[in-house]
Amino acid sequence: MTSSPRSTPDRVYLTTPIYYASGEPHIGHAYTTFLADALARYHRQAGAEVRFLTGTDEHGQKIQEEANRRGITPQDLCDQMAGRFLDAWAELDISHDRFIRTTEAGHKAVVRAFVQRLHDRGHIYAAEYEGWYSVHEERFFTEKELGPGNTDPIAGRPVERIREKNWFFRMSAFQEPLIRHIRENPDWIFPESRRNEVLGFLQKPLEDLSISRPRTRLEWGIPLPFDDDHVTYVWVDALINYLTASGAIHPEAEPGSQGFDGVDESGRLGGSWWPADLHLTGKDILTTHAVYWPTLLMGVGLPLPRRILSHGWWVVGDTKMSKSLGNVVDPMALKEKAGTDALRWYLLREMPTGSDASYTPERFMTRYDELANIIGNLASRALSMIERYRGGVIPEGPDTGLSAETAAAVASFHEAMRELRVNEALGHAMDLGRAANGYVETREPWAQAKDPARAAELDETLASLARVLLVLSALLLPAMPARMRELAQRLGAEDVPTLEEAHGILLAGSGVEKGLPLFPRLEWGEIDGA
Ligand code: MSP
Repeated sequence: MTSSPRSTPDRVYLTTPIYYASGEPHIGHAYTTFLADALARYHRQAGAEVRFLTGTDEHGQKIQEEANRRGITPQDLCDQMAGRFLDAWAELDISHDRFIRTTEAGHKAVVRAFVQRLHDRGHIYAAEYEGWYSVHEERFFTEKELGPGNTDPIAGRPVERIREKNWFFRMSAFQEPLIRHIRENPDWIFPESRRNEVLGFLQKPLEDLSISRPRTRLEWGIPLPFDDDHVTYVWVDALINYLTASGAIHPEAEPGSQGFDGVDESGRLGGSWWPADLHLTGKDILTTHAVYWPTLLMGVGLPLPRRILSHGWWVVGDTKMSKSLGNVVDPMALKEKAGTDALRWYLLREMPTGSDASYTPERFMTRYDELANIIGNLASRALSMIERYRGGVIPEGPDTGLSAETAAAVASFHEAMRELRVNEALGHAMDLGRAANGYVETREPWAQAKDPARAAELDETLASLARVLLVLSALLLPAMPARMRELAQRLGAEDVPTLEEAHGILLAGSGVEKGLPLFPRLEWGEIDGA
């Protein structure tokens, strides 16, 4: 199995987790989705054909309970909430190609074909199960894992003692192959700290996985094809979404084979998008993605996803964000105040991929000011000087001014993006913006403009600034698509060029438009609590 290719791949299949349809989108969901969106845009910009998947996780006890609480049917709740996520993603400029809902008929059929296949291959058995169950996390915990006062160790909610018949997947049989896979593919889980965490977890014997829930306790799920009294465990149902949306399995078309085709020469399953190139996840759902999912895939004999990214958590100040504490940060409120791109910028620039980060209004403002002062300021200075000194037309000039800095920034940007260090990639773009502002200071175009004998020097300064701004629009496009399109258009381009084109293009002769500030000043008090 290949790990992440370092060159630009032709086809890229990226996924976000599917979000529970029981709660509103918050900045945690927005972050994972922005990260996936930035990578999707980056690969599209480089010419790859991209499939970017997101969606909603709509079965299970959590959904059933939330629907009961609201006095509506689970399906009505899911319809409403899927709509909320779709609206949020539209407002936040998410460019997904597919939004999957696990209540879709096609997905249900794939889940049934998948578990039937596991059963046919002898990896499923029935047994009595007794254990500590957390409704909130929708999973069992061992006695040892429990927190103080019999609470689940993740959310700290009470757990219940439950005894029931369950169907089990022989996950234990795949412990060794999984360890081998992780060892042989050092990049498979990113970052390394999370890879070590999974390897640490795998040092203990891996238990079998309960993959069913009795319908007497939970109705809202996909019935098992071989036992109508049980529904599929929501995590198994949910993980399979990645396969459903890849188009690899066609249960209705080939009832005999269930459509589990072989891999073609590109390494994909039967011309579909499977295996995924990257699953983006948060650290709380690492075990399900890096242990349950790959062993389930081994069980049915399908290729594993090529890479898993596990990012950290957004906390508020130094407190965990939670509904019960009432400190959940609403991305839509921030968007209303600062705009979509500023929110995208803040979340993507602030969190080092893999580490935790703390949301504070002060940090939001600091990151916003960075944008306004460096990129916004550079654009307005350059555009207004081109207007003032050259009648609004970009002059011809040699590519000398900032070409070395630009080449270095573009190379570092690519490297960081391919290594999934999106925040660092954006940092390289910002450094180029800083260098360009420094260039304005040293060249002093206002002095060059006063002396007709220095006209060629002034042309060179202005042409260099126009070039670097176009490159910046391409570098920052994955993070801030709307503002960067605007910037490219003000420079007289039709759209943001690809990075390869951008470096070296001079839009000489193009008419520029200064326009209003790209990132207008935000008053400190406009962001709550600042
Ligand atoms: N439905 C499951 C995923 C199934 S995927 C087959 C689920 N949903 S979720 O709605 O709870 O959220 C999923 C994603 O949001 C995870 O990647 C999780 O890490 C992320 N976040 C939720 N809270 C978060 C923060 N406070 N900070 C960053 N991301 C966090 O889990």
